[in-house]
Amino acid sequence: MRLDFYLSHVTDLARKAAKIAASKGRVTVNGVVVKKANYTVQEGDQICLDDVLLAWPSEGYYLLHKPAGYVCATQDPDHPTVLDLLPSHLGQDLKIVGRLDKDTTGLLLLTTDGQWLHRITSPRNACNKRYRMMLADPISDADLKRLEDGVMLNGESQPTLPAVAQRISDCDIYLTIQEGKYHQVKRMLAAVGNKVEELHRDQIGPLSLDADMQAGEFRELTEEEVAYF
Ligand code: URA
Repeated sequence: MRLDFYLSHVTDLARKAAKIAASKGRVTVNGVVVKKANYTVQEGDQICLDDVLLAWPSEGYYLLHKPAGYVCATQDPDHPTVLDLLPSHLGQDLKIVGRLDKDTTGLLLLTTDGQWLHRITSPRNACNKRYRMMLADPISDADLKRLEDGVMLNGESQPTLPAVAQRISDCDIYLTIQEGKYHQVKRMLAAVGNKVEELHRDQIGPLSLDADMQAGEFRELTEEEVAYF
């Protein structure tokens, strides 16, 4: 990558200021002053600005308890976004791992690591997501079975993939799905003639939302949790 791009990524300097810093001889690569902003930086190069060794920031992995009312987008003209819940210095390069609707609460992952994000969201990896929901009407065992076997969603040509449905009470169920189609859970319940009134995600793969975490709180994932995916 170009030297000015590298500098603008790992320091507070904007691209233009990075070019000027280099042209003034403030930057060394492996101990040699490099004044050209288009110099190609290689992996393993020791790059210093004003004799301070720079390091490419390591990837960030975060778990957020999403509250209702926040949209999963980097910007929105009308609503607060989930990135508003994290300190702005973390938010810059963070990508949202899958989307939850504005009114959905629960476990949301954010990361700077595009490959990790892809491993979780790629349909090929069939990563399970568990949702708990309150329904408008009591649901029958037959309809739970239909949800498990696969239902045809409006506008789709294939039924949903096998899922796991567990009853908690008449109108309160868990549904674990391996896909992530647009509004999938709400559309699945609509397909069996019901309506989701409240939706909360509490698991993604082997990762669960912390029981003591309040809506709006976030934390960094441990190395072990990052390695789940
Ligand atoms: N399915 C939905 O319908 N909404 C969500 O937010 C997540 C899954």
